[in-house]
Amino acid sequence: MGTLRSAQWYAGQDRNAYLHRAWMRRGVPSDAFTGRPQIAIANTASDLTPCNAHLDEVAASVRNGVYEAGGIPLELPAVSLGETNVRPTAMLWRNMAAMATEEMLRANPIDGVVLLGGCDKTIPSLLMAAASVDLPAVVVPGGPMLNGTFRGSLLGCGTGVWRLSEEVRAGTLSQEQFVRSESSMIRSRGHCNTMGTASTMALVAEALGTVVPGVAGTPAPDSRLLEAAHHTGRLAVDMVGADRRPATFLTKASFHNAIVALAAIGGSTNAVVHLLAIAGRLGIELTLDDFDRVGSRVPVLVDLQPAGRFLMEDFHRAGGLLAVLRELRDLLDPEALTVTGEPLISYLDDAPIWDGEVIRTRAEPLVAEGGIAVLRGNLAPDGALIKPAAASPHLLRHRGRAVVFDSIEDFHARIDDPDLDVDADSVLVLRGCGPKGYPGMPEVSNMPLPEKLLKQGVRDMVRVCDGRMSGTAYGTVVLHVAPEAAAGGPLGLVRTGDFVTLDVEARRIDLDLPADELARRTPNQATTTGFANPARGWERLYVDHVLQADTGADLDFLVGSSGSDVGRESH
Ligand code: FES
Ligand code: MG
Repeated sequence: MGTLRSAQWYAGQDRNAYLHRAWMRRGVPSDAFTGRPQIAIANTASDLTPCNAHLDEVAASVRNGVYEAGGIPLELPAVSLGETNVRPTAMLWRNMAAMATEEMLRANPIDGVVLLGGCDKTIPSLLMAAASVDLPAVVVPGGPMLNGTFRGSLLGCGTGVWRLSEEVRAGTLSQEQFVRSESSMIRSRGHCNTMGTASTMALVAEALGTVVPGVAGTPAPDSRLLEAAHHTGRLAVDMVGADRRPATFLTKASFHNAIVALAAIGGSTNAVVHLLAIAGRLGIELTLDDFDRVGSRVPVLVDLQPAGRFLMEDFHRAGGLLAVLRELRDLLDPEALTVTGEPLISYLDDAPIWDGEVIRTRAEPLVAEGGIAVLRGNLAPDGALIKPAAASPHLLRHRGRAVVFDSIEDFHARIDDPDLDVDADSVLVLRGCGPKGYPGMPEVSNMPLPEKLLKQGVRDMVRVCDGRMSGTAYGTVVLHVAPEAAAGGPLGLVRTGDFVTLDVEARRIDLDLPADELARRTPNQATTTGFANPARGWERLYVDHVLQADTGADLDFLVGSSGSDVGRESH
């Protein structure tokens, strides 16, 4: 092992080295500061992020592993984002969490880091931070909750809420039964057990090479998670010895494999913005088109809610990500390495499928061509996404009259109005929900359908929005429209009554309007007054600097890496 980064603080006999060591001693072994790797445990445990509340126990196992391998474990509390509580949307704070973790890793005497995340934004923000500070880093995903069941059938996190609440509005489920299902849905520690964003990002992080292969998807209450955490603590020490930093093993090939995995698991559309942002930190040229090119012909092999039937506990039992990737071995880039130093594909030889209902074979996929389709057109010049596997086949090619809403409040105020001029063929358009407009790009694109249409039995409609949607949601939803209305995108020019054409096969989303008429239009005042205009604080910084969804919605000045050097002393 060469000289450790932490030796810049601890080595020598001078006054400064004294200061750095003396305050850190407090019972740690006397040789702690002479050549032993200092391993931060970036821990997003928080009572207000219930999906991550158990990570203190995971951290304790990591500590044991670090000590055992000769390192010194140091817990670093990280900004924690709970998807269900944090307003106006956890996404507004993802870049702030990433910036805070990046700066604290750089500012402190740290040689490597174990990243503990779970709930949606936590793994992405930790990986963005680790990429920009470029110290050896490895993720332990906190793992999903156990399966929920209600009235004899599986009840998945998020997906069940959307489904049951529509049933209440349609009059087929009582309020009382609805409320009673709460504790059936959330019955253990861990993150959402559907193939929502948390599950997706844990698995995608493994496909990317940042998790010990085979670990992602281990349920949060499973002892094997603690075993893996212990092992990962040891590995972090080895990674420092080998100088295995993100810049040394994360390449375009890693992202290629992540996109294949994202498609095969039927993963969340949110993974697109997160992967673009992580790649941006690494200086890797990744574009929206890579997602369509690499992912859109990949079969969906995993039958998990929201696209399918099962939940993460079933997925883990059935063989997990490695079993999925083994089926798709020829689509993977064999060059891509992992945190262990070995290529991802070297883990696929012994990765059988144990339950062919949950994980399908290549020969019998759940959906022949999955992935995420990237649409363009005069309504989304820089791109928009749709997840065809979660959409209704009969709507993938559709022309309908727009019913436009200028904000989510406008939507809620009018959607259930019996006089609203809307039918099953209408296209619901919601704007002002992009990164700048809301701000933070909330998960509102899967707008609830008008009550009067639900009562007629309508269960899906084409929806178009510049926001995101929950990874647990489903429907024919065109989202992440870029540029967003608040950034001057043409979505801000649509008027109720205009015709919108969606053609997923042709990858088009268009407003049926002559180019000169579109060019003449300006957004009306009701539209623009809805856009966020914060006076101060993070929100102001965010609105002034956030990039659009098609490049990852990072802040412009956070793209790239500053490395781990800090030139100046503190005293
Ligand atoms: Fe935390 Fe779904 S709310 S993972
Ligand atoms: Mg704590």
